[in-house]
Amino acid sequence: MRRTIPEKGLSREEILQRLRDYTADDLDPYSGRLFTIAFEPGVEELREVAFEAMKMFAFKNMLDFTEFPSAIRMEKDIVDYAVSLMHGDEQTAGTFTFGGTESVFLAVKAARDSFILNRGIVTIPEIVMPITGHPCYDKAAEYLGLRVKRVKVDEEKFTANVDAINEAITENTAMIVGSAPNWPFGTVDPIKDLAEIALDKGIWLHVDACVGGFVLPFMKNLGDKIPDFDFRIDGVSSISLDPHKYAYTPIGASVVLFKKKFYKMFSQFSNIRWPGYPIVNPAVLSSRSEALLASAWATIHFLGQEGYTELAKKIISAREKIVKGFKGLGYELMGEPTVIAAFTADLNVFKLFDEMAKRGWIFLPQKGIEAMGIPPSLHLTVTPIHDKLADQMISDLKDCTEAVKRIPPSEAESLLGIFGVALSLLSPGEMDIATLSKIFKEAEKLLEAQGDKIIQSLGLEKGFPKEMGSIFQLLASIPPEMAELLASYVVIEMYHRGLIEKI
Ligand SMILES: Cc1ncc(COP(=O)(O)O)c(C=O)c1O
Repeated sequence: MRRTIPEKGLSREEILQRLRDYTADDLDPYSGRLFTIAFEPGVEELREVAFEAMKMFAFKNMLDFTEFPSAIRMEKDIVDYAVSLMHGDEQTAGTFTFGGTESVFLAVKAARDSFILNRGIVTIPEIVMPITGHPCYDKAAEYLGLRVKRVKVDEEKFTANVDAINEAITENTAMIVGSAPNWPFGTVDPIKDLAEIALDKGIWLHVDACVGGFVLPFMKNLGDKIPDFDFRIDGVSSISLDPHKYAYTPIGASVVLFKKKFYKMFSQFSNIRWPGYPIVNPAVLSSRSEALLASAWATIHFLGQEGYTELAKKIISAREKIVKGFKGLGYELMGEPTVIAAFTADLNVFKLFDEMAKRGWIFLPQKGIEAMGIPPSLHLTVTPIHDKLADQMISDLKDCTEAVKRIPPSEAESLLGIFGVALSLLSPGEMDIATLSKIFKEAEKLLEAQGDKIIQSLGLEKGFPKEMGSIFQLLASIPPEMAELLASYVVIEMYHRGLIEKI
């Protein structure tokens, strides 16, 4: 049913009540029960300061920094702090963006334009990265006309396999990416080795420190074993690092740094060809509220280096408890963890995810890639608040692990497994355009006719269920192109329906 704007405005109380109603089935990001997505320091006062800062700047627009020079002042401070954490120098330049993906878009655009202008060739430029690189590179490539080549990782360490990266490089390679750390396993790629290749072949090297940039330096100071990954390594061209992850700022804050001011030129957009105002956009978006920049500024200044060091101590302590707990229950740790740890075991991780979700603990089940020697696993993003909750979580994990081991695989599940393997043999890697085009045409007909049935059979007609494990398992079991199509359709449907009938 289509809704229209209410004829008459609502009162403040009505508005707030309606909004509270909308949150009825939201998880609590401050609870410490989420081991993914929520980066919670457990410092309540911090939130208040961030909210105050948001209020002060919500209606100021970063688009016109001549009208609101405060944007430049706050951005300069945050970029400077990022540069100092990443050991840049006076030449290092940066941009504040609204998220890791946006920072990566700017780095990819800069690498692409520098590649094309330096080589003066017309081709589809390529990004070479380990399979563990975040999908935002594929997204940037899709938007910006590049191609991504993902290669296998070291099967013991779950870090970039340098030989595989080297072999994948061709004359079309515009960019190499390494992560510090990657999202699936929390391991840090050997950036020094990747930089040697980049220097040798004259290729842009981007370090994705979206997760680690604001936290690994503090953990390293505390004695954690973390390899170098920043501008101290010759050959690193750009780094992305997100305050909205481990600097604990409200969501919508990232920074991209370029080794030289001139590299930033390739990332920026300017247009003075139309009859309107001159446009120079340092970031992807044009109009942007200053609220997120201000709240990031406030958070960083509230915590200071001392605060970040204290929080880093808690992360290390929580991680040690979690690793010990998992190992004690027979799980195997995958690689050297940082702020993220991943575990594998001979059990159905999707079912374990559901069992833990029933008790209010949210992990991420990961499908792995059998052909690359990566088994299914459970991902945990460790944050400071987990220090006080880790023991309780591990005690529930013990019960849930035993429960999952007792559940026999269902018939449907075994069928799904066989079906999945067969299908993935049919379409290894990428489908060609002709096949995809056929699939899309068929899919459009199928979804128009059967869309409601699909939503029903996935149990989604009343919104997302608390236990999503079987849906994740289904997506993991069919070829990626099919899974992407299905997931994309489901998300369009869920937004279209609006989940209104649930409240
Ligand atoms: C390693 C890595 N890079 C980039 C991103 C993208 O960040 P965002 O979600 O802020 O766009 C993520 C997100 O989790 C990530 O883990």
